[in-house]
Amino acid sequence: MLRVLIIGATSAIAEATARCYAARGARIFLVARDTTRLIDIAEDLRIRGATNVDHAMLDVNNQPAHAGVLEQAWQKLGGIDVALIAHGTLPDQSACESSVETALAEFATNGTSTIALLTALAPGMEAQGRGVLAIISSVAGDRGRQSNYLYGAAKAAVSTFASGLRQRLAKAGVSVVTIKPGFVDTPMTRNFRKGALWAKPDAVARGIVRAADRGSSVVYLPWFWLPIMLVIKHIPEFIFKRIKL
Ligand SMILES: NC(=O)c1ccc[n+]([C@@H]2O[C@H](COP(=O)([O-])OP(=O)(O)OC[C@H]3O[C@@H](n4cnc5c(N)ncnc54)[C@H](OP(=O)(O)O)[C@@H]3O)[C@@H](O)[C@H]2O)c1
Repeated sequence: MLRVLIIGATSAIAEATARCYAARGARIFLVARDTTRLIDIAEDLRIRGATNVDHAMLDVNNQPAHAGVLEQAWQKLGGIDVALIAHGTLPDQSACESSVETALAEFATNGTSTIALLTALAPGMEAQGRGVLAIISSVAGDRGRQSNYLYGAAKAAVSTFASGLRQRLAKAGVSVVTIKPGFVDTPMTRNFRKGALWAKPDAVARGIVRAADRGSSVVYLPWFWLPIMLVIKHIPEFIFKRIKL
């Protein structure tokens, strides 16, 4: 039976992913900071077929609490087949430009906390000799753009960290999957005007589960973000400086 840990479990993308695993009868351990929502989501996942659902409360910026929560997850699940790290915020870029404190706090939520969680999860996965660490990064990490480079920098740190971790853990039989969604219609993006490039959380969730099943390395979701980001990454700096993205 599949044993799945989801951190940031109240995220729309994480919840949709959890539903896919529930339909397969997985045992699931949910981690998030809103206990009321965790209880509701856990109940829903049981109805959808999960064999067992446990949960723990964690603000990912409370790093000293990470070890205890992860220990609970290992114990309750009896091993981890898939760990998904999904939490995040979309910082106000202009607030990050005017406050060092805000910039570093947002970097911690979107970058450092994920690196800390992966560092703490890696030895257990390595010792197990199998399993998948799936991390939701973002296309925003592929190139810093003036509209959201604090968020982009944090996601770039996560993607680069995941790349090194993937190379290390491949030798132990563990897959590290970097998920790079483009625009997804979730509470995080509620104030954005939606258009043709936007995806729904369910579609992204199916992509995450497929990538975890395959032990993929890096996936763009939906796929068309790969060519889009290839173009954006290759715009020469002298042109890039003159345009707004
Ligand atoms: N939506 C997009 O367009 C998009 C694109 C690329 C990548 N992503 C990434 O996809 C992931 C999921 O985001 P989403 O779109 O599903 O957005 P979402 O529904 O707004 O979910 C974000 C989640 O992060 C949690 N979170 C934020 N700060 C936290 C903290 N300090 N401790 C614990 N949990 C915290 C939130 O919990 P609370 O509800 O308690 O605040 C919420 O459950 C994120 O990593 C995001 O960066 C999203």
